[in-house]
Amino acid sequence: MQPDSITFLVQPGGTLRGTARVPGDKSISHRAIMLGAVAEGTTRITGFLEAEDCLATMNAFRAMGVTIARPEPGHLLVQGVGLHGLRAAAEPLYLGNSGTSMRLLAGLLAGQPFDSVLTGDASLSRRPMQRITEPLRRMGARLDTSPTGTAPLRIHGGAQLQGIRYALPVASAQVKSCLLLAGLYATSATCLREPAPTRDHTERMLAAFACPLRRDDGWICLEPGAKPIAGAIDVPGDLSSAAFFLVGAAIAEDAELTLEHVGINPTRSGVLEILQRMGADLEILNPGEAGGEPVADIRIRSSRLHGIDIPEALVPLAIDEFPALLVAAACAEGETRLSGAAELRVKESDRIDAMAEGLKALGIDARPTADGMVVRGGRPQGGTVASRGDHRIAMALSMAALRADGPVIVTDCANVNTSFPNFAVLARSLGLPISTVSGERP
Ligand code: S3P
Repeated sequence: MQPDSITFLVQPGGTLRGTARVPGDKSISHRAIMLGAVAEGTTRITGFLEAEDCLATMNAFRAMGVTIARPEPGHLLVQGVGLHGLRAAAEPLYLGNSGTSMRLLAGLLAGQPFDSVLTGDASLSRRPMQRITEPLRRMGARLDTSPTGTAPLRIHGGAQLQGIRYALPVASAQVKSCLLLAGLYATSATCLREPAPTRDHTERMLAAFACPLRRDDGWICLEPGAKPIAGAIDVPGDLSSAAFFLVGAAIAEDAELTLEHVGINPTRSGVLEILQRMGADLEILNPGEAGGEPVADIRIRSSRLHGIDIPEALVPLAIDEFPALLVAAACAEGETRLSGAAELRVKESDRIDAMAEGLKALGIDARPTADGMVVRGGRPQGGTVASRGDHRIAMALSMAALRADGPVIVTDCANVNTSFPNFAVLARSLGLPISTVSGERP
């Protein structure tokens, strides 16, 4: 049985040394299942992230009649049913904490002949869904939300979708991907323009499944009639999971860490540029390619970090890494200013508030703003901090202990299993003095 509550207890004085692989990329794992399910033929996925979020996507497709075998850990064989082979699930599809599952599935299911209901946990049920329901309705989809525009999503089948020419109001890869997946069922072209570049895994994977996109003067277009054809996807290590270790090694003393085979897609790699601008001793080694995505080994050593003004253009390229980056800022010399990051308020938690509160509890001067934070670096003290059930807040604050002068206790960490189930084991093996205390909720 999974424990209801997990607390991380991290002693000060540790470091991070050695060579490791982080688990597979979450965004790419979701997309490999989704496209594999509606492709013609069998898709072989290696390096699949077996964490709760991606398993929620896998279970949703199994519930819709897709056979997915798991010959060994991280290795899936998805027997595609083609664009028109999904069947109605008997129950609502429960997607746990996973925003990517809900938003991307909504697009894929909007064009089906059957009805679907998508539900999630308390956090997912608070997150904004109008950003997808509004353009999906313009494509002809029929779907309902709660009165506040949140899940559960009720999608009415049998709608004939048309293409759309749509400039996204927010820089969101989930919205872009939702509409591209809906576009597979549209009778005319789906053309999208982003306010700033966001992760392009869907575009790359559509191309790998024989559905290339057309780029035209800042617009990306999916033509009608595209049919995904099964392929083999080797999922690289998740840079978002690597980020905790990169920051941990940069702030620790006597650290030297090599993370192998990590995805360094330029639409995701803002964290590397931000750390380098802060003075991190970071090297990219052995660049190559896996599954249509750039990969490399990343070596990082103890670094003397200094505060910076984070360029707003880098924000969408590092959107999931700010919990970790704010810990780096807390240990850097001088002030770091983050702005243009209001999206952080609608992630698994309000990450601006959660990080400001966590850093303040560790004695750091962290001032939240409407769209970011100003952090004056210093030496964290020990203390108890709340992760608010947000996996990335939990892992980021744990790393602060590498620089703290007392133990750091992080509460409510069970959701680390949504993206990185062996985080504590891997971190301990590299030198972070972390232990976990499990309990059942009272
Ligand atoms: C994701 C896109 C991002 C990111 C999320 C994963 C994806 O969300 O924060 O963790 O896989 O497309 P937004 O599109 O809401 O920025």
